[in-house]
Amino acid sequence: MRGRSLLVERSRAARLWQSGARAARNVSQSAVSASLNTPDASVSSQDSDSEGEKEKGSTQTHFGFRTIRKELKSSLVGQVFSSVAPSYDVMNDLMSGGIHRVWKDLFVKNMCAQSKGLSVLDVAGGTGDIAFRIIEERRRAAVLRDMSSTSYTTPVMVCDINDEMLKVGRERANTRGYTSSEVSFFQGDAEKLPIESDSVDIYCISFGMRNVTDVQKALQEAFRVLRPGGRFMMLEFGKVDNPVVAQAYDLYSFNIIPKIGGIVASDEASYQYLVESIRRFPSQKVFADMMRNTGFEEVSFLNRTFGVVAEYSGFKPKPGENWTN
Ligand SMILES: C[S@@+](CC[C@H](N)C(=O)[O-])C[C@H]1O[C@@H](n2cnc3c(N)ncnc32)[C@H](O)[C@@H]1O
Repeated sequence: MRGRSLLVERSRAARLWQSGARAARNVSQSAVSASLNTPDASVSSQDSDSEGEKEKGSTQTHFGFRTIRKELKSSLVGQVFSSVAPSYDVMNDLMSGGIHRVWKDLFVKNMCAQSKGLSVLDVAGGTGDIAFRIIEERRRAAVLRDMSSTSYTTPVMVCDINDEMLKVGRERANTRGYTSSEVSFFQGDAEKLPIESDSVDIYCISFGMRNVTDVQKALQEAFRVLRPGGRFMMLEFGKVDNPVVAQAYDLYSFNIIPKIGGIVASDEASYQYLVESIRRFPSQKVFADMMRNTGFEEVSFLNRTFGVVAEYSGFKPKPGENWTN
């Protein structure tokens, strides 16, 4: 009897999931079409089941579940983040029940454990969530060692492609009293960073990589700007490793998150994209391989909350250690 009701529940859940996913595709389709303001000539439908960045040739990429021409992605992603920027931080709390704070705290703690006094570039840094945590860690460390936090020679550099997100970040920094010797904000594309080669100790990117058009290019840029021995660190949504949690997570993501986005940010479609972009991003294993193929060494990842998110780490080798450049 129990087994039967479990089966009924499961098929109900599967039906719900399918209708959620169908709705997701429909909303996303109309969002993309509307934002392009053209018929669907440049946008084609593709199922989301394939894992990783299986792009069709070099001219196409993903925008959520859609396959689009590469040159369109940046502006579509730009529209998403310009639209969500004012409510971005509130939405993060609402969508994750505040748990994104724990993920970010742990990520920054790991980073700072080995980064005292080092230069940090926070790519796709948005409204400053990671940078501000680094500043707080630096201040704490400075107090512990009874020295001024300004003994850090470089401010945390926050780079983002979107001016609206940066604007919110600058305002938050001012409100919190962070100085320009602690944090600097500038516009830049993760695929073409306005940063000298071999100059940065730590490159970090949090929930940004899945939004770039060409993930491989962004990884190569990370490798270029890091000094030999420098560390790449990424926090990103991953693939959930527990099937029961995965099903619940899918139901929540496709049925609830866009609705919250609609109510709080008046923008259901943008949150639909964010949910879809998570499903399209390579699995932890695939992304770790991409890092290795780019040249990073000691590559590792650490799952949080059943793999809902994962922390990645890798090092640019020093000359003499498999140096290929
Ligand atoms: C989900 S937000 C993450 C913000 C912040 N890192 C955090 O963890 O809260 C993603 C950010 O990636 C930025 N972004 C998207 N494509 C980018 C690119 N090609 N180069 C730099 N930033 C990009 C967006 O503008 C947005 O601010």
